Amino acid sequence: MPSAASPSQDTSTDHSPAFSALIRTASQEQHTEAENSSFMSEMLGGRLGLEAYTRYTEQLWFVYGALEGAADDLAPDPVAGPFVRGELLRLPALEKDLTHLHGSADWREHVAPLPATAAYAARVAEVARSWPGGYVAHHYTRYLGDLSGGQIIRGTAEKTWGFARKGDGVRFYVFDAIGNPAAFKREYRALLDALPCDDLEKRRIVEECRHAFALNTAVFQELGAHFRLSA
Ligand code: HEM
Repeated sequence: MPSAASPSQDTSTDHSPAFSALIRTASQEQHTEAENSSFMSEMLGGRLGLEAYTRYTEQLWFVYGALEGAADDLAPDPVAGPFVRGELLRLPALEKDLTHLHGSADWREHVAPLPATAAYAARVAEVARSWPGGYVAHHYTRYLGDLSGGQIIRGTAEKTWGFARKGDGVRFYVFDAIGNPAAFKREYRALLDALPCDDLEKRRIVEECRHAFALNTAVFQELGAHFRLSA
């Protein structure tokens, strides 16, 4: 989980924290909640079967469909555009993973979003259409997480279900086009710090980030209920 330390220097003249530090701190509690959800804990503890991992990967496909379906339209936007980076795109990797997990290329005919996933994807699609700052909140919540804790999930998945290291089944967690994830995250935080938004808009973005975490937790809860976990 993210530590409390500020990842960025205070570069503003009014000594308010850098936005990257603010959004990280403001979502820390929700991060802990998502991380400690029964579904995540059981999955990272290696106590769930491949079916649970497959259902989870399917849910991600719906969420990234909404995030990345909007990318081209948002590329010229002054707020969201700088975050739209080809190196991040996850859909091709997710599709390879799902082909592997289902053992056939016709998996699209067999997958459906859980209600919580449908609500999450709908919210992403809505902000993508109408509010670039809100899209940034969702972009941050997923991609910076995938570049961080996602690596822990990959290691567990490889060990638990026997996927080849960085191979089919865990390609979602492998950012081939990002040679130095730490440097990439630094640049990403610099983009957050340079957002051309006023303080009110930044507060709204932080709120949307909390909402994004809650939407993730809701998906974990439904997956947990499906696999009969206690909370
Ligand atoms: C069990 C699951 C998870 C683990 C083990 C985990 C672990 C981590 C770790 C180690 C970091 C790096 C912190 C740092 O650089 O100091 C991180 C950052 C982050 N995680 Fe997670 N995480 C998990 C789940 C999630 C989920 C479900 C989300 C949201 C969907 C998420 C979103 C983020 C974000 C946005 C960051 C970047 C924070 C920042 O530096 O601004 N994580 N996570």
